[in-house]
Amino acid sequence: MSTSESITLPYSVEAIRADFPILHQMHHDDVPLIYLDNAASSQKPAIVIEAIDAYYRQSNANVHRGIHKLSDAATEAYEGARLKVRKFINAGSKREIIFTRGTTESINLVAQTWGRANLEPGDVIISTVMEHHANIVPWQILAAEKGFTIRYVPVLPDGTLDLDVLYGWLRTEPVKLVTVAHVSNVLGTVNPVEEITRRAHEAGAKVLVDGAQSVPHLPVDVQTIDADFFAFSGHKMVGPTGAGVLYGKRDILEAMPPWMGGGDMIARVTLEGSTWNDLPYKFEAGTPAIAPVVGLGYAVDYLMGIGMDKIHAYEQAITQYALDRLAEVTGLTVYGPEASQKGAVAAFTFQDIHPHDLAQVLDTFGIAIRAGHHCAMPLHTHLKLNATARASFYLYNTFAEVDALIDALYISRRKLTL
Ligand code: ALA
Repeated sequence: MSTSESITLPYSVEAIRADFPILHQMHHDDVPLIYLDNAASSQKPAIVIEAIDAYYRQSNANVHRGIHKLSDAATEAYEGARLKVRKFINAGSKREIIFTRGTTESINLVAQTWGRANLEPGDVIISTVMEHHANIVPWQILAAEKGFTIRYVPVLPDGTLDLDVLYGWLRTEPVKLVTVAHVSNVLGTVNPVEEITRRAHEAGAKVLVDGAQSVPHLPVDVQTIDADFFAFSGHKMVGPTGAGVLYGKRDILEAMPPWMGGGDMIARVTLEGSTWNDLPYKFEAGTPAIAPVVGLGYAVDYLMGIGMDKIHAYEQAITQYALDRLAEVTGLTVYGPEASQKGAVAAFTFQDIHPHDLAQVLDTFGIAIRAGHHCAMPLHTHLKLNATARASFYLYNTFAEVDALIDALYISRRKLTL
C-alpha cells in the first residue's frame, strides 16, 4: 500500500485549498465537502470569483462597440483574456482564439462551418469509441445531412485506442478528418495526439482535438501538437461556466464560412448581402459572454502562476495513490490504463452496487462523485456497462480525501448490500 507521507509533492496543497472558498464549507450540517467531480466541473478560486464581481462593479459594458470609457474597459478586459489564453496554449496568434460557450459549442462550430463546407458523400471522418457525446453527435447530425461516413476507432482491453486500426484507415480510406479526445473523461486515457496528428496530416486529413479533459490538467502546446482545431472549456479549468475556446489554425479559419450571423461578425451589411469581419470576430456573433471570458483569463493567470507542469505532477501522484488504494478494495473494478498513462480520473464499478446508489450514499459522507454514463454511452456499451461511478481529481484534492473515499466505500458496501 502507498502512503501519502512517502511522496514528494510539487506544491503545498493546503495553500492551494485556501484559494477556493467553496472547499471550506460543510457539505451537509456535519460533514465537510470532499469534491471529487472535477471532470464534470471544477471549483473556482477567489481570484476568479472576485474578477467577475469586479468586472460587473467597475467595467461592465458591451465590447467592441461603444465609444466610451466603460466599453473600452470591457473590451480591454475581454481581449486581454484572449491574449492570456493564446499564451496559455501557445497559439501563434490571438486571431486563432475563438471564444465559445465551451467544448461542445467549439466542436459544433467546426462541424457546422468547416464540416459543412468540406465533407461530401464518399468522405470518411474518424472518431473513436471513447469520445464524449460532444465529439460524436455533431458529426452524426451533419453526416445524416451530407452523407459522409463516420468510423470509430475501437478501444483495446487496456483502455487505449487501437491505433493500428486508425492508422490502417488513414492508409486505405478517403479520410478528411480525425476528431479525437486528448484525454478520455471516463478511462482517463491520454491519447498520443501529436503522433495521431502527424499521421493524419501525412494522409491529407485534418485533426480536431477535444481538449476538455487535458487543458485543465497538463501543459498543452497547440503548435507542438499541430492539430488544426483544439477545443476546451473554461469551467473545467477553474474558470466560470459559459466561456470556452476553439483554437484553429489561421489559414483554415480564414477559409471557413461563419456559423452564426449577427452583430460583430460582419464587415458590411446591405440588404443584398453581407461580408465578414476579420478573425476571430467572424465566429463571435452577438454580445459574447464577457464576464465569463474575463473570469477565464484570471483562471489562466491562476493556473500559470502555479505551473501546469506542477499541477500535472501533483495529479499524477494523487491518481497513482487513488488507484493503489482503490485496488485494495475487493469487488471494485477501475476502468482504463494505469496511472502513468492516465488523467486524474478513476471510473469504477463496485460489486453489483448501482453507481447511482453508491453516489447517493457517498454524498451523505460529503463526497461528491459522478455516476452514470458521463456523456460516453458508446464507451459504456463497449464496456458492457450501463453506468460507472467516477471520482475525478484536481489540483486541490488531498490524499486524505482519497482515504476518506476508501473508508466511505467500505461503509457504503455494508449499507447497500445488507
Ligand atoms: N463532460 C463532463 C463529464 O465528463 C460533463 O462529466
